[in-house]
Amino acid sequence: MKIDLAFTPEELEKKDLEGKSVVVIDALRATSTVIVALENGCSAFIPVGTVEEARELTVEHPEFLLAGERRALPLEGFHLGNSPRDYRPDKVKGKIIVLTTTNGTRALVASQRGAEVFIGSFLNLGALTRRLVEAGRDILIACSGEKGLFCLEDTVCGGAIVERLEKTGLSLSKTDAAFAAKVLYEHCENDVYGMLCNSEWGQYLEGLGLGKDVRLCARVDSSSLVPVYREGKIFLDR
Ligand code: MLT
Repeated sequence: MKIDLAFTPEELEKKDLEGKSVVVIDALRATSTVIVALENGCSAFIPVGTVEEARELTVEHPEFLLAGERRALPLEGFHLGNSPRDYRPDKVKGKIIVLTTTNGTRALVASQRGAEVFIGSFLNLGALTRRLVEAGRDILIACSGEKGLFCLEDTVCGGAIVERLEKTGLSLSKTDAAFAAKVLYEHCENDVYGMLCNSEWGQYLEGLGLGKDVRLCARVDSSSLVPVYREGKIFLDR
């Protein structure tokens, strides 16, 4: 099985995704938020690239909730921001949520050419690994990055997936990018929370008083859910 990694959505756009399992990661915070919301009973997410698209969708479907952020700040008139702590069962149970975020939804939109697309973060590493092994396809890990540039936390999370897959005994053929991500992960595997706190985005979130979100996003293996992104929606298919 081959494994590759794209550090940014731009890089992802240039990759051949045909026949591959794609894993989209935005460890701080979008993909962690999606996992928490689905844990709390949300029925599905519809990721969209722009705030305007999100608003238009809820004009057609007033029953949908509007959610997202720009620079980690909630958007005017939206029901939810992008803090996983806001997606409590009383707010999200049974709801379809239209989500637009700075980097995460861009990576999701670019991932759609994959044979299957999974949502990954530190929260679901073990479950995700099992699902990828079961799928048996070549893998492309899609990091959301930060405004088109490399970001540490998504790459380290991608490296954790490479490491977990190798631990299953699978014979993996790694690209240089996948190998580099694994090396980075091995450097901080004993302190994922510390790595998140020291990342640029982690520090930015902390500065906004969102340090509790960083802590939540560091809960390795706290979820057994593997959301899929299929036909424009993110949901649980089992
Ligand atoms: C993003 O998509 O860029 C984010 O998840 C940013 C955030 O809200 O922390």
